[in-house]
Amino acid sequence: METEVVEIDAKNITGDAKRHLERAGEIIRNGGLVAFPTETVYGLGGDALNPESSKKIYAAKGRPSDNPLIVHIADMEHLERIVKRVPEAAYRLSEAYWPGPMTMIMEKEDLVPYETTGGLDTVAIRMPNNEIALELIRQSGGYIAAPSANRSGRPSPTLAKYCIEDLSGNVDMIIDGGQVGIGLESTIVDLTSDIPMILRPGYVTQKMLKDILGEVEVDRTIIDGNSKQKPKAPGMKYRHYAPKGELKIVQGSQEKVIEYINDEAKKAKDSGKRVGVICTDSSSNKYLADSVKSAGNRNDENTIAHELFKVLREFDDEGVDVIFSESFDDSGLGRAIMNRLLKAAGHNVVIL
Ligand code: TXA
Ligand code: MG
Repeated sequence: METEVVEIDAKNITGDAKRHLERAGEIIRNGGLVAFPTETVYGLGGDALNPESSKKIYAAKGRPSDNPLIVHIADMEHLERIVKRVPEAAYRLSEAYWPGPMTMIMEKEDLVPYETTGGLDTVAIRMPNNEIALELIRQSGGYIAAPSANRSGRPSPTLAKYCIEDLSGNVDMIIDGGQVGIGLESTIVDLTSDIPMILRPGYVTQKMLKDILGEVEVDRTIIDGNSKQKPKAPGMKYRHYAPKGELKIVQGSQEKVIEYINDEAKKAKDSGKRVGVICTDSSSNKYLADSVKSAGNRNDENTIAHELFKVLREFDDEGVDVIFSESFDDSGLGRAIMNRLLKAAGHNVVIL
């Protein structure tokens, strides 16, 4: 299959851009696949109500089919048609954080095929905050199933070039809307349990959810890497976001971390390996390695979320064999950053 790539500026959806989106919508309505930008990461979209489209998504990603997809909507009226009941909490959360980086899980209506929900009776739903995504959803009939637009296991794409790398030849169209704003996937909150539960941390933090709902729990498996329990979001059990090189997270005081990484980097280099380091602006001139990348500014975690997946992919492009990463605070948005980094590292952590 030939993959068409079109560029669209989310701030100016008129003329050609509008026509591209009409065509993209037609592709999805006809059972095809289109990769598109959202505010979190790029998504790989197909018609959420068409079981054949969902099967194609799994095939294009190389994703296990027990891992359910998120259904993206653009209008609240559409929500009511695909769930048995909209819980009160969903209205309150959507009021506060939609369109935005938050996915809610509810009981599915029969209209939603099991192919889309990985066989579950619940469905994950999100209204993304990106004009390209919203217009595409409307043009597609209202419901786009979209996992992140990467090959299964690789870091989620924050730029169209990574969708092209991973999906060319397997999707009909890729919409290039530039680098995404947030850079980490949405927060997932399960509203089917008595107390709402975070299944995947993201930009919308536990505190932000508590501000609206009062009580909100966190799936233990997110916090405890050694937990024997199965994560409640099926996708969270897979090794994810993994760079090709071996990634190790180093925790401790800044001086000790720098000293440890430089020692280990030297040893690795001496044995003929290419070494990469993930650090922050304030420490980037302190490392000796083949490739030193700052993920951003420690005082502004948004910058780190924005760059993290891109940095992991750049190390792949550079053929780095071993990567050492500084560690980040585990509160607020830091919880999502550390969750992704720990998964990328397969929980390979050194505490000094
Ligand atoms: O920001 C995002 O959420 C991006 C953009 C494209 O919207 N999408 C995304 O989708 O990250 P994906 O497929 O890569 O991750 C979806 C996660 C998986 O871990 C999956 O197991 C979980 O959501 N999930 C989906 N439906 C679920 C359900 N009914 N119950 C529990 N977990 C569910
Ligand atoms: Mg994903």
